Amino acid sequence: MKKIIIIDGGPRRNMNTAQMLQKFAEGAKSAGEHIEVKTIRLYDMDYKGCMSCMACKLKDRASNVCRFKDRLSPVLEEISMADGLVLGSPIYFGEVTGQMRAFLERLSFPWLSYNDYSMTAPKQMPVVLIETLNGTPERNNSNGFGSMEYCITRALGQPQKIVAYNTYQVNDYSRYELAGFSEEAKRQWRDAHWEEDLQKAFDAGRKMAEM
Ligand SMILES: Cc1cc2nc3c(=O)[nH]c(=O)nc-3n(C[C@H](O)[C@H](O)[C@H](O)COP(=O)(O)O)c2cc1C
Repeated sequence: MKKIIIIDGGPRRNMNTAQMLQKFAEGAKSAGEHIEVKTIRLYDMDYKGCMSCMACKLKDRASNVCRFKDRLSPVLEEISMADGLVLGSPIYFGEVTGQMRAFLERLSFPWLSYNDYSMTAPKQMPVVLIETLNGTPERNNSNGFGSMEYCITRALGQPQKIVAYNTYQVNDYSRYELAGFSEEAKRQWRDAHWEEDLQKAFDAGRKMAEM
């Protein structure tokens, strides 16, 4: 059995990020019954970011999995033994959501050695990062996973990145004060790109499962 863990860092259950992650899961499962895919929704969980308890850096007991105990602990243990990891987040104010950031602090700080500044995850595995945002490739204020992408790259290897630009933020623009957006332009972009974005997520799932 090969286990792929999907971390959904967005609050909305059925919108853009969730749909991209769902497609990824479908792609991975299409590779065969030996693929187990588990999706964890961060917004359904009660947990903290790094508490700076330094338990992961204790002399002779250093650990590259977070030792702080809360609802995230079993998830971090599971990831340390997984065969693939997918992190999905909408972009909020140019970065991943606060929930995703807090999760990444807990995931990454134990990888970092303050002895020699190496970054060592318990196990190497392929990683895919999925971002969804209003911006376009030409007009984009997003730093995405930012410095956390650097940590992931050092500890786990170069991640594959999929970005769904110019997403439909609400299902009916006429109901909201969103005059800064043209619904017509959004619709045209969606018609031209959304299916392709979902396909990219599906293909990445399939590829990870077949690795
Ligand atoms: C609080 C908040 C902040 C946002 N900030 C940005 C931003 O800085 N750049 C951007 O392109 N889109 C931004 N967006 C738009 C979302 O990233 C975009 O609609 C995303 O696809 C939403 O994902 P979801 O449909 O999975 O919730 C923001 C949305 C919210 C709610």
